[in-house]
Amino acid sequence: MARNFLDLMDFTNEEVYKLIELAKMLKSADKKDACPYLLKDKSLGMIFAEPSTRTRISFEVAMTKLGGHALYLRPGEIHLGVSESVKDTSLVMSRLLDAIEIRSTDDEGIYELAKHAGIPVINGMGTYLHPCQCLCDLVTMSEHLPEGKELKDITLTFVGDATIYENVGTALSQILPRLGANFIYCVPEGYVADDGFYAPVYRACEEGGGTFKIVHDPKEAVRDADYIYSSVMWYEGYDDDKERRCRDFLPDYQINEELASYAPAHCMFMHYLPAQRGYEMTDAIMDHERSLLWDGAENRLYGEMAILVYLMHYQKKADEELRREEQAKIEAWLEENVK
Ligand code: CP
Repeated sequence: MARNFLDLMDFTNEEVYKLIELAKMLKSADKKDACPYLLKDKSLGMIFAEPSTRTRISFEVAMTKLGGHALYLRPGEIHLGVSESVKDTSLVMSRLLDAIEIRSTDDEGIYELAKHAGIPVINGMGTYLHPCQCLCDLVTMSEHLPEGKELKDITLTFVGDATIYENVGTALSQILPRLGANFIYCVPEGYVADDGFYAPVYRACEEGGGTFKIVHDPKEAVRDADYIYSSVMWYEGYDDDKERRCRDFLPDYQINEELASYAPAHCMFMHYLPAQRGYEMTDAIMDHERSLLWDGAENRLYGEMAILVYLMHYQKKADEELRREEQAKIEAWLEENVK
């Protein structure tokens, strides 16, 4: 039975730590130009119903470095959900590919695709969650831990929007407390969801012993932060929101040097990117010596590699001796039958 990567919470803490370790091993191998061909001859279909720079590049490069191949499949250029049901496309893809990655705002469509697929399906970002980004952020944080701390000890302050539309914040707010860490949402009034939305977060706190808080005062929210994480101030394509959101978030909820001065001296800065420079984060913070933005973007590659290898490792590998035998058999047949 194929395992999917739809939600990082589907993986136990032990598995999450294994994924982080695997990402680091693959990174170390790649830095020596010795990335093992663990997915030789395997094919990943990548469906992107929404734009992407990091996710698309990292999955495609990951497959190449692991000895496999990735196909970019754009809705409108394939039949998915238009002249063919999601179920039928999923059944066909399962016969032709070895794994599927999908980015879509149709969360139900992602789950429908996964339900009928006989191969692993990876959530490359939905409305509700961005589990790939979340895992890669854990890799980045684990490489840049404050002295004397482990992941389970850290405090992350996420400045942004605590509603369903913040898929990275939602994913981090669930996994960090389950690992035992502290998650603080720093949001203006009005950017908080109904209490029921946070039920998985409170369950995670109970399971892992971590904490979750929503704080409206930015100075208080960053006081103990090991990491300050920012999300976009408004979403491209939703420009009607821009004026309202800028009014609600600026200047108090911008990550700038003044706000950073209220955080501990070791505090590091994160953003999933793309960022709107000068809005949610100033240039000085994005390019700060304690900015983890570019390490974080690079780690998308190694996190995606770990996800692919973890999910696809069970699949049959190429057997070179059998391949040579099959080649000899078919060449002999061609010699005799195809002039
Ligand atoms: N952070 C992230 O998922 O980036 P892209 O939208 O560029 O893939």
